[in-house]
Amino acid sequence: MTSFIRQINKTAASLYNQAKSTPSGKAGSFTTGIRILREIFLLSRPQETDIHQRMKPSRHLSWIEISRSALFRNISALGRMAGNRIMAVCVKANAYGHGLPQIVGLIAKHPRVEYLTVHSLEEAVACRESGWVRKIMVLGPIATQNLEAVLEYDLEPVVFTREMLTRLGKISDRTKKRIRTHLKLETGTNRQGITEGELPAFAAIYRKYPYLKRPWGAGMHFANIEDTTSHEYAEYQLKNYRRLVAAMGRMGIKPTLRHTACSAALMLFEKTRFDLVRPGIAVYGHWPSKETYLTYRLQGGQNDIVNPVLSWKTRITQIKRLPANSFIGYGCSYRTTSPTRLAVLPIGYYDGYDRSLSNQAYVLIRGKRSPVRGRVCMNLMMVDVTDIAGVKLGDVATLVGRDGKEVLTAEQLAEWAQTINYEILARLSPSIFRELAH
Ligand SMILES: Cc1ncc(COP(=O)(O)O)c(C=O)c1O
Repeated sequence: MTSFIRQINKTAASLYNQAKSTPSGKAGSFTTGIRILREIFLLSRPQETDIHQRMKPSRHLSWIEISRSALFRNISALGRMAGNRIMAVCVKANAYGHGLPQIVGLIAKHPRVEYLTVHSLEEAVACRESGWVRKIMVLGPIATQNLEAVLEYDLEPVVFTREMLTRLGKISDRTKKRIRTHLKLETGTNRQGITEGELPAFAAIYRKYPYLKRPWGAGMHFANIEDTTSHEYAEYQLKNYRRLVAAMGRMGIKPTLRHTACSAALMLFEKTRFDLVRPGIAVYGHWPSKETYLTYRLQGGQNDIVNPVLSWKTRITQIKRLPANSFIGYGCSYRTTSPTRLAVLPIGYYDGYDRSLSNQAYVLIRGKRSPVRGRVCMNLMMVDVTDIAGVKLGDVATLVGRDGKEVLTAEQLAEWAQTINYEILARLSPSIFRELAH
């Protein structure tokens, strides 16, 4: 731990010295900015700190297991669905909570994946730091001052404002280098996107900055493809997309790669696949929603195309006996009705175990369901082990995953927490140790 703290101090001192000696507004300040971004990321991403290295997985009190084989099987299965289209795997939000460095390291070993998609520049830098040398598409906004990083890190930004495209044009002009841009088209999600009326202005910017050439890609994102079994709105968006892409062609900015397909689109509708697909959640082994699964089955699909990659485990750190009528935890929200054996787990909402799971969820201990009792605290929670024989200190409790014949899925937790599997996964704290398994 002390070497980790030494590392923070060293980085802070070097950033301070650089900031003092770099004239602002010059190329140097940009490089410093990127260095700062990278170093801040290195400090904040899931650390292989000395404490992690010294501890064998068996000594961790909480850890996430990543199944290499499940990830590879999912990529292969989705790759088969995608056919000859380029595959771009979404690793935003710390690879949907799985751990970006670990997932990127694994995907790098799978030749089927040509692109990673990320939300931010920080995530893109993290992919490069994790050894990814293939393509990266940045889906979200990049601060104007940091746009030069697109060349430094060889990134393909998704563009949705004229200001961003103009700035990229100027950078490409100055450096005489092509920047591969993707235009995000507004087809009905009304999030990031360019309307049909704005397209001529974008075409003019491409004409003005010849090093930009044409847009490398044109994409859109579906608003209502997961939450329903009626896909009229998706059809409507697809129609708009086709119209906008055709208009781009007429304006001389025909994109090379057309892409629209998130996991649900890829799994359900061949016509959304175009030239490149951008699955996220399915790569990690999860269906985007019950409705997607239902539609897939109604279309005659098999149910086992993807399997969860992640399990989350912890250990019992205290066991106690309580008489009947004892309150448990903050707010005295649970009261025992009979003598109770209670186990304390070192997990709380800080780790990503949602507080709304208080008195709602179960964990698995010795292959049995053990109910959560009382409020989930910041760092601790309590479970009832009265009816589970032989429970002892240090026993493993599975929060997500399999124990014997019992399974707790991210979907089940999402239902108890009244949210979606995406949120359960994406909010798993980056500070939890990630362990690669089989
Ligand atoms: C633009 C874009 N494409 C693709 C994805 C992947 O979506 P999914 O995880 O549903 O496959 C996302 C995720 O939110 C996204 O924002």
